[in-house]
Amino acid sequence: MLVLPEGIRHMPGYLDPAAQDALLADIRAVVAEAPLYVPTMPKTGKPMSVRMTNCGSLGWVTDRDRGYRYQATHPVTGRPWPAMPERLLAVWRALSDYPHPPEACLVNFYTAEAKMGLHQDRDEQDFDAPVVSLSLGDACLFRVGENTRQGNTVSFRLESGDAVILGGEGRLAFHGVDRIYPETSTLLKNGGRINLTLRRVTRPAAA
Ligand code: SIN
Ligand code: MN
Repeated sequence: MLVLPEGIRHMPGYLDPAAQDALLADIRAVVAEAPLYVPTMPKTGKPMSVRMTNCGSLGWVTDRDRGYRYQATHPVTGRPWPAMPERLLAVWRALSDYPHPPEACLVNFYTAEAKMGLHQDRDEQDFDAPVVSLSLGDACLFRVGENTRQGNTVSFRLESGDAVILGGEGRLAFHGVDRIYPETSTLLKNGGRINLTLRRVTRPAAA
């Protein structure tokens, strides 16, 4: 059996096919209001192969001039991000073990050629909250390691409906997507993979 690093949890088939369909309908509505766009890398301005949008009060964005950050508006339309669908809030309540709602859901769309290099999610103020990730559509090869870039990594497939939680010791684990396996799901009629990552960004006010 594959042993995952401390704090990394993989839940295969967390969303059943009906739940995947329902969530996909929610995400289509988000994308209709906040179109997928091509993010660019800090400094170099190199386009990423993954297209992105967000929902929630904050969205994660990147561009050449201002780099990685969260902001309340879509970088192309200038409009506020669509509200986080209730279905995603319910997933967060079920999986996060964290008493405050998520503020951001990054929507990543991968075509067959897209990938995502090894990185940490560290643009948030509050690392007490986990990152909760959901996969829809084609499978991918996901890689996750330790809290340093040099650490060992393990790779495994994420299928449509799978959930991954990066929490506790694993909250700052390096992770990335090495490849997409085209035509491994019929959920998206034109193929591709959607990944949703739910995150708490700001530190909640003390009670
Ligand atoms: C991400 O780290 O933003 C995406 C991970 C994934 O696509 O599974
Ligand atoms: Mn990430």
